[in-house]
Amino acid sequence: MSQTGTTLSQFLIEQGRLHGDTDEALNGLLSDVATACKRLSNLVRLGELAGVLGAAGQENVQGEEQKKLDVIANEVFIDSLQRSGYLAGIASEEMDAHYPIPANYSRGDYLLAFDPLDGSSNIDVNGSTGTIFSITRHSGDGAPTDADFLQSGLSQVCSGYCLYSSASMLLLTTGHGVSGFTLDNREGEFILTHPEIKVPRATREYAINSAYARHWLAPEKRYVEECLAGVEGPREKDFNMRWAGSMVGDVHRILCRGGVFMYPMDARLQADGKAGKLRLLYEANPMGWLMEQAGGMAHTGTQPILSIQPDSLHQRVPVIMGSAEEVERLIGYHQELAG
Ligand code: AHG
Ligand code: MN
Ligand code: MN
Repeated sequence: MSQTGTTLSQFLIEQGRLHGDTDEALNGLLSDVATACKRLSNLVRLGELAGVLGAAGQENVQGEEQKKLDVIANEVFIDSLQRSGYLAGIASEEMDAHYPIPANYSRGDYLLAFDPLDGSSNIDVNGSTGTIFSITRHSGDGAPTDADFLQSGLSQVCSGYCLYSSASMLLLTTGHGVSGFTLDNREGEFILTHPEIKVPRATREYAINSAYARHWLAPEKRYVEECLAGVEGPREKDFNMRWAGSMVGDVHRILCRGGVFMYPMDARLQADGKAGKLRLLYEANPMGWLMEQAGGMAHTGTQPILSIQPDSLHQRVPVIMGSAEEVERLIGYHQELAG
């Protein structure tokens, strides 16, 4: 008999059997997440034809201009996830406080924090975007509070993202490595295409928005200068640079072929009183766990991202993640050049 592709649902059932940790509620929740990703993928692919490009004409809680698709993505996910009884509450980049599952739906044991549409500045030019999500347990009884979401990255039971690009891909981990699924639009199914993704330890590629070079702190200045010096410099090799403008796009490339992604603390962020640009609960933690599960590292420069105890829903952190050799080097520069 000819071999057909493994669907996401089949994969989750097989993984549960293999590791003896079948969790039907989590599998059901991930099936809802996949449905939401398919719905959003369809809208992204239609672009202007679906009338989803352009500004929404309002700001989110972070004071950032919302695009129409930021708002639509938030609604598509909530609508797809709230009905099945797997979740107790949802936190989102686009919502000030968390969203409790309404009383007319049953309430489950999981919490989901997400970035509905990452890489918003790419929407109007049909560039890479994505959705990032992080799932933790709701330990208490009754409706969750914002405080229930403040769990470190080590408490995640599943994290992942869906990339909306030339193909749409769902990557996820439940703590047994990272698996990648490509959306087959003919079947409407995510099919396992990238089993056991591993990030190479060594790389010649880095990602940072170099328009902020004048604001960088000493560790990143030194690191990038040494990369730019190429084969004649202390690294004795030439480097390549890529910046997608979407963390999902950059992290996906790094998971596929190695590299290091940096959105570090800089003097501009310090002057604005911000602890970083990217958000801990729904950007750094889920991507950090994927990176570590793929054999890479995720750090702020001073501590592992996953070890941070969050103190607020929209907390920001500096982010350095990717191939272990480069992240280790950057941590070393932070130790040497601190202060
Ligand atoms: P979002 O679109 O969800 O606000 O996130 C954008 C983030 C991240 O995806 C990307 O790496 C970074 O912001 C880009 O920031 P700059 O525009 O400062 O380069
Ligand atoms: Mn984002
Ligand atoms: Mn976003």
